[in-house]
Amino acid sequence: MTEKYIYIKSYGCQMNVYDSDRIKDLFTNKGYKVTNDVTKANLTVLNTCHIREKAVEKVYSDIGRINKIKNQKKNMKLVVAGCVAQAEGNEIRKRSRAVDFIVGPQSYHKLPDMINKLERPLNSDFLQNEKFKNLIYNNSKLSSEFISIQEGCDKFCAFCVVPYTRGPEFSRPIADILSETKKYVSNGIKEVILLGQNVNAYHGNSEDGKSRDLAYLIGKISEIDEIKRIRYMTSHPIDMKDSLINAHKTNSKLMPFLHLPIQSGSDQILKKMNRKHSVDDYLLLVDKIRNARPDIAMSSDFIVGFPGETDKDFENTMNFIEKVKFVIAYSFIYSPRPGTPAQHKDNIDIGTKKARLTALQSLLTEQQINYNKSFLNKSMEVLFEKKGRHENQFVGRTIYNQSTFTKSDKKILNKILKVKITNSTNFALECQI
Ligand code: SAH
Ligand code: SF4
Ligand code: F3S
Repeated sequence: MTEKYIYIKSYGCQMNVYDSDRIKDLFTNKGYKVTNDVTKANLTVLNTCHIREKAVEKVYSDIGRINKIKNQKKNMKLVVAGCVAQAEGNEIRKRSRAVDFIVGPQSYHKLPDMINKLERPLNSDFLQNEKFKNLIYNNSKLSSEFISIQEGCDKFCAFCVVPYTRGPEFSRPIADILSETKKYVSNGIKEVILLGQNVNAYHGNSEDGKSRDLAYLIGKISEIDEIKRIRYMTSHPIDMKDSLINAHKTNSKLMPFLHLPIQSGSDQILKKMNRKHSVDDYLLLVDKIRNARPDIAMSSDFIVGFPGETDKDFENTMNFIEKVKFVIAYSFIYSPRPGTPAQHKDNIDIGTKKARLTALQSLLTEQQINYNKSFLNKSMEVLFEKKGRHENQFVGRTIYNQSTFTKSDKKILNKILKVKITNSTNFALECQI
């Protein structure tokens, strides 16, 4: 039998990375080999993201590029999976004959069957329950694995496509998450990163049928000896419950890093965004969290140029950032998305948007640089996760989620070791063991 190869490209968030790993597992289980060379592939999967227009444009340009390879090769099938498949499946079918299969993020477990039967329906049902039961979970990382524990979103922020592409909120049962964790642990991993579009809204059932929150799940996972580090993302301020805040105080395996996007520092804009919380609510939360865990590293997302954002609103966002001090943050120019309430209200000119983004990013970068500098000559614990690009170089992570680079001729991979910080670059730390 000739060998079959699968090539898969992941766009967008960590949940797509997780899904791409599961798609790989489904096909390696059927005898496929994974390749990084698309020209070698019999099956090419684009696992796509719909969050901003640029992400979608990238997908269509990749489809065009792959079509050329496909025409020369003849024995390649092209799958478009993920959030663009969900949102624009019919559009993709109309625009490109190169695409053989279209499957959304909650039905990709059907892919091997679809390909086998050469069925070409649009698979866009929200089958979260069935999906997780039919996936295969192979450990692919050395020390840290993502685990999707919650999917979808019921919040409907005015700018966001996620509730439409991922469907309604769904939480996996505790037992399933624990058994997946134990599988990875048996291969030696030390850290899990619990994923969800709204991870702190988690409310999965335990075996006694009771609905449990994220703090409970984290407690259960931390009972597994081999797991040394637990992280979770992304959280929404209105779901930041006391039990979770308290876990940051009492559970030493829960890492002191919190990605808690606010999007804007202006109440007027938060209201228009349908974020369901005010700037003061967020500041109060930060106080509570820092009371529970004083050294916690805070991170956020920001959108600039949301419809109606005035200079004053933007100034409020800048002041807010000054007040909280983020160790890292991601910021984006507002991108009007099809089907969302804010779509037709886009009214800030691109020059203003760009200027605001530049100002915001330079403030955030300054905070990040200062934060990293504050660790110079200090000692801290690092989990060494992979080899670096240079000889004897290793890439690791501090408890605060900073990337580190270390040179060593010892076997330090997948170990947690005390290091001394010797240098801080803009976005990472250099250290010695
Ligand atoms: N579930 C997370 C994030 C989802 S998307 C949350 O609730 O915060 C990741 C980030 O992309 C968002 O936090 C937001 O900052 C950004 N984003 C989402 N839609 C966008 C849009 N239409 N234009 C620009 N940025 C957007
Ligand atoms: Fe999108 Fe808002 Fe849901 Fe986050 S909470 S996924 S930004 S709708
Ligand atoms: Fe993108 Fe879908 Fe994730 S839209 S950010 S891949 S949930």
